[in-house]
Formats: sequence, structure tokens, C-alpha cells
Amino acid sequence: MAQVSGTPDVPDMGRRQFMNFLTFGAITGTALGGLYPVVKFFIPPSSGGAGGGLIAKDALGNDIVVSEYLKSHAAGDRSLAQGFKGDPTYVVVQDDSTIANYGISAVCTHLGCVVPWNAGQNKFICPCHGSQYDETGKVVRGPAPLSLALAHAGVSEDDKLVFTPWVETDFRTDKAPWWS
Ligand code: FES
Repeated sequence: MAQVSGTPDVPDMGRRQFMNFLTFGAITGTALGGLYPVVKFFIPPSSGGAGGGLIAKDALGNDIVVSEYLKSHAAGDRSLAQGFKGDPTYVVVQDDSTIANYGISAVCTHLGCVVPWNAGQNKFICPCHGSQYDETGKVVRGPAPLSLALAHAGVSEDDKLVFTPWVETDFRTDKAPWWS
């Protein structure tokens, strides 16, 4: 029996298994490579240590670095960033020149127009059918039926602005969030 391991076939078997392994690896690699774009599509980019949040991007697609952002965005500013699913989301700079812990979706709850911030009137006013929202995005005039959606906004350890889903009670209405 001990001779079996000494037969000339053994190296061949080893080689064949090795080749099978390589083939498997090639197939697996190809399959995973093919899946990658699909997986990538469905999983939003990670914030890298911010609890699965999403790093907010500016209009050019760059990560928003909070300390830099605050140099050019004064108290009261509401400017757009890219939020979940690429939706335009307002970043709110508070009176003390810190970023509010919530971002406001700019997507009108009537028919989905992007709602601009009107600093003069301290409101978001939809150009499509005139809906109005106060400075927190709470609806104050229809036809929009609901307030603008919220996301949590926070700062990561490396100073980037991170959105995370808002699943708690809507602080503006004391109701469950309609968007989650
Ligand atoms: S889409 Fe905004 S009011 Fe109609």
C-alpha cells in the first residue's frame, strides 16, 4: 500500500488537482468579477467607520470635509449635497456655525420637483406648484402633503459629513417618518 503513494500517478493527481483549483479559481474570480458591479450598485458606498452611513458629496462628487465646508458656508446656510440614492439633500448650518444633526431632502413631496431654499423668506418654496416648507423642511403650504424627508447628519472621525437614515420620530411632526 505504501507503494501507492510512490507511483508515478501521484504527482499527476496532485497536478490535476492543482489545475482544477486554478480553474475553479478562474471561474470563481470571473463570477465574482461579474457580480461586483451589481453588488456595488445595490450597496451604497460605506462611510468608512460611521455606522454604515453615507459620506455626503458636493456637486462635483467630492466628499464634504466639514471643517472646509464651514469656511465657505455661513450660519443659516442651506446648500445641497448628494444624499441617499443621490437625492439632493440640504446641509443645514446652524446659528453657532455648526452643522445641524439633520439633513433635509430637497425632493418635493407633491410631485418630486427639487425645492430651492429661499433665504429671504426663510422657507423652501417649490417652483412647480408653490408648496412651501419652513426652515426645517416642515410643510406649511400645499399642495405638498408631507414634510420633506430627513436624514441624520454627523461628522466622521476623519472630518467628513455623513448621512445616516432617519428612522426615529420626525421631530417636526412627532409622527413616525413617512419615508422609512
Ligand atoms: S412638485 Fe412641488 S408643489 Fe408640486
